[in-house]
Amino acid sequence: MIILGIETSCDETAASVCENGIILSNKVSRQVVHEKFGGVVPEIASREHELLLNYIVNEAIIESKITIKDLDAISVTQGPGLSGTLLTGISFAKGLASGLQLPLIPVNHLEGHIFANFLAKPSLSYPFICLLVSGGHTQLWNIQNIGNYILLGETRDDAAGEAFDKGARILGLGYPGGPIIEEKAKAGNPDKVKFPRSLMGKNNLEFSFSGLKTSLLYYMDNFKESSEVRFLDVVASYQMAIIDTLVEKVRRAIIKTKANRCVIAGGVAANLKLRKILKEKIPEIEFVFPDLSFCTDNAAMISYLGNIKIKSENSYDDLSFSALPNLKLK
Ligand code: KG4
Ligand code: ZN
Repeated sequence: MIILGIETSCDETAASVCENGIILSNKVSRQVVHEKFGGVVPEIASREHELLLNYIVNEAIIESKITIKDLDAISVTQGPGLSGTLLTGISFAKGLASGLQLPLIPVNHLEGHIFANFLAKPSLSYPFICLLVSGGHTQLWNIQNIGNYILLGETRDDAAGEAFDKGARILGLGYPGGPIIEEKAKAGNPDKVKFPRSLMGKNNLEFSFSGLKTSLLYYMDNFKESSEVRFLDVVASYQMAIIDTLVEKVRRAIIKTKANRCVIAGGVAANLKLRKILKEKIPEIEFVFPDLSFCTDNAAMISYLGNIKIKSENSYDDLSFSALPNLKLK
């Protein structure tokens, strides 16, 4: 089975070809146009997808060394995401699928992030815990099997990626915040500023990052760089407050479920400091992390999941589905 995957849930225009679980190509174009606005502008993102999709899909086909006639099916992100950008990708995919008379498989973006871990470790076995940390989601899942997911806890307000992005904006560091904060934090002391860790009451598996963001805002109002506390110390301390919270909640989820393995999914999974501290603080279990190129939004995870879905359920000839911006995992 050869599947073309298309992903346009936010500001990455992406296409990938997957043959029987092996990724043959993975093309991603991140729309840098949003940087000057400090965040994604939905209308601009949709227009950029319209401009780029044809080119990116072509590039994915060329890189995979197949021809478009070799495709057995197409998979496309149905949600969650921005309504307009999802629709752009879905309309493109529907046109292509009907023109080529191929089945079209709608894929849940969050499920795609989780399944990117099978690309890192094909032998990964169920059940496992998943910390799903992206720009829009922070959730802890107990993954029993494909399609059988139990939610253990999620954020009450901001997502972890949002905490990185909003923090970076307060610190004047640009967008997206995660990679910039991670880089700057390397030269800072994470123990210098005691930022709050929220919802640490016993057994609590929920997250909250809005208080942390506000506390950074107030701290920066009165901050002056000195030999005592440098700007980079503030950056490192802020990152550590996010990481500490994530690691502690994973630890609790593992105790609660007695799980033996844990995967991390979504853009924040690209953070190497988070990976290191998880392994240091919870050495007793196995961690799986996706390849860095499969953490932030990509279409490899969409083509891979499309490949799994078409094997399990062979009926994807109905093109009447639409975008689901608020699609949940269950
Ligand atoms: O999964 P993703 O690409 O898009 C969504 O589905 O939301 O995640 C994007 C988020 C952004 O908030 C970005 O700042 C964060 O992932 N991110 C990181 C890193 N790379 C991306 N956060 C922390 N450290 C990173 N290295
Ligand atoms: Zn994502």
